Amino acid sequence: MIRRLMLAAVVAALPLVVIAADARRDAILADYAAKARAVDPGATAFSAQRGETLFRTKWTGGDPRTASCTACHTADPRAPGQNAKTGRPIEPVAVSVNPKRFTDPATVEKQFTRDCKNVLGRECTPLEKGDYITFMAGQ
Ligand code: HEC
Repeated sequence: MIRRLMLAAVVAALPLVVIAADARRDAILADYAAKARAVDPGATAFSAQRGETLFRTKWTGGDPRTASCTACHTADPRAPGQNAKTGRPIEPVAVSVNPKRFTDPATVEKQFTRDCKNVLGRECTPLEKGDYITFMAGQ
């Protein structure tokens, strides 16, 4: 019964995911899609446009030194970044120039937790995470 429910959840989540490139990234997106649907059964699709807004918005809830994702990842996702706090270099986040991006679920989840708290002052929702990856996958 539980297996059947889980399968149903995975199948129901699939239409949210439109970009197919790396199977590991697809699996991460499918997982966020299932979680997004659990929060809001009406969630229809991830949006690169919403992902870009999340990336570029200057938020007010987090650390004022890092009000935006661009503070470290720069305004150009294809360019190398620099950690605004430590000065350490960061590899580009756009999948086109850095295909390793968003392929390890533990890394992705760890960084979302850390970076969203820094920038937004809260966790990102599963929908926001899927939107962000969808945006970066198209960059
Ligand atoms: C304080 C600097 C900083 C800010 C601001 C920042 N990041 Fe990051 N981010 C990093 C670092 C450092 C890494 C890990 C090093 C790397 O992946 O090159 C990283 C990596 C990531 C990853 C992992 C990508 C992968 O390779 O799988 C995600 C996801 C991510 N960031 C999302 C975000 C989002 C979303 C925002 C804005 C809400 C954001 N980051 C803002 C520093 C930052």
